[in-house]
Amino acid sequence: MKKGVKVTPWEVSGEVNYEKLIKEFGISKLNDKILERIRKHTGELHFMLRRRVFFAHRDLNWLLDEYERGNKFFLYTGCGPSGPLHLGHLQTWIFTKWLQDKFNTELWFQFTDDEKFLFKNKSYDEIQKWTYENMLDVIAIGLSPKKTHFLIDTKNIDVMYPEAIKIAKKITFSTVKASFGLTNESNIGQIFYTSMQAVPAILPSVLKKKNIPCLIPLGVDQDPHFRVARDVYPKLGFYKPAILHGMFLPPLQGIEGKMSSSLTTSAILTTDSPKEVEKKIKKYAFSGGQPTVAEHRKKGGNPDIDVSFQYFRMFFEPDDEKLQQIYDDYKSGKLLTSELKEILIDKINSFLREHQKKREQAKKRIDEFLLK
Ligand code: TRP
Repeated sequence: MKKGVKVTPWEVSGEVNYEKLIKEFGISKLNDKILERIRKHTGELHFMLRRRVFFAHRDLNWLLDEYERGNKFFLYTGCGPSGPLHLGHLQTWIFTKWLQDKFNTELWFQFTDDEKFLFKNKSYDEIQKWTYENMLDVIAIGLSPKKTHFLIDTKNIDVMYPEAIKIAKKITFSTVKASFGLTNESNIGQIFYTSMQAVPAILPSVLKKKNIPCLIPLGVDQDPHFRVARDVYPKLGFYKPAILHGMFLPPLQGIEGKMSSSLTTSAILTTDSPKEVEKKIKKYAFSGGQPTVAEHRKKGGNPDIDVSFQYFRMFFEPDDEKLQQIYDDYKSGKLLTSELKEILIDKINSFLREHQKKREQAKKRIDEFLLK
């Protein structure tokens, strides 16, 4: 990676080169052949797959082999509750819900309140508040409670801890130091943490007393946890989980790094009002347009570096033809930055209106999702 580019579970900065990341992480690119294998089962391909927003994988061919043999998998993903959520979080989960619907699978969803307490300078009580708030957003995605199980690390520790220590016993401090950049000064909870994130990938197998394949959709920054854990699972008699890696939704300021809740001017939050959305997009969304209207008409804009266009591509415009139209019009100068932003503001606000309504209704439904 270039200097200043960093992709770890706790920090993403700089302009991420995904081709290089594939090599460095030792993951495999999603190619046409494997997408066609998925399409055979799902009927259509989600636009995040067609456009390679989910761009890489581990062991997906194995997972599909098993599936075709009648050995169904479950899904596992999670949320680190340290603050308000943003569109980048929802992106992964909307895709996860699509997988759940298409493959009719169970989903195990982990809330790592322990992680965020150990890694952030926030009190235990504050992290508990965010755990509650974030659960509302996850429920609002529309996951079926019959097929979805929430695991909250500090609450479900009774089932998780026996597995976590079995995993922890097979990971050394030096591996963790090398993989995550932890040092002798890191608190000892951080050193243990990866074993907690590793647990849900095998927990259903433990509880049902049979080996069940697992697929983990995640933002690629989470891969290092599983790179370490995947060496351990077979030693305990379990399958290695398959993984699907997603790109980061860029922050408003430009295509470097990722949206971050700790920098609220970088992100559209799930709780933002229409006015806030309008202000953030107008004021902060990095534009690939020209400085003046006259120049823009003449030279056209650059959609590839335009953050508003990237939001259409990665989230808000599933229709390929419509997306192409926006691309062409912006590039030719027919569509102005201000107009592009207006369309985006409308899209985001109508999405958030629905989301926030479902988020309200979720307050009465949390219980349906908790593991009993
Ligand atoms: N550590 C993740 C975060 O900080 C949360 C998480 C837990 C997760 N388990 C996961 C993410 C599995 C992806 C897949 O957001």
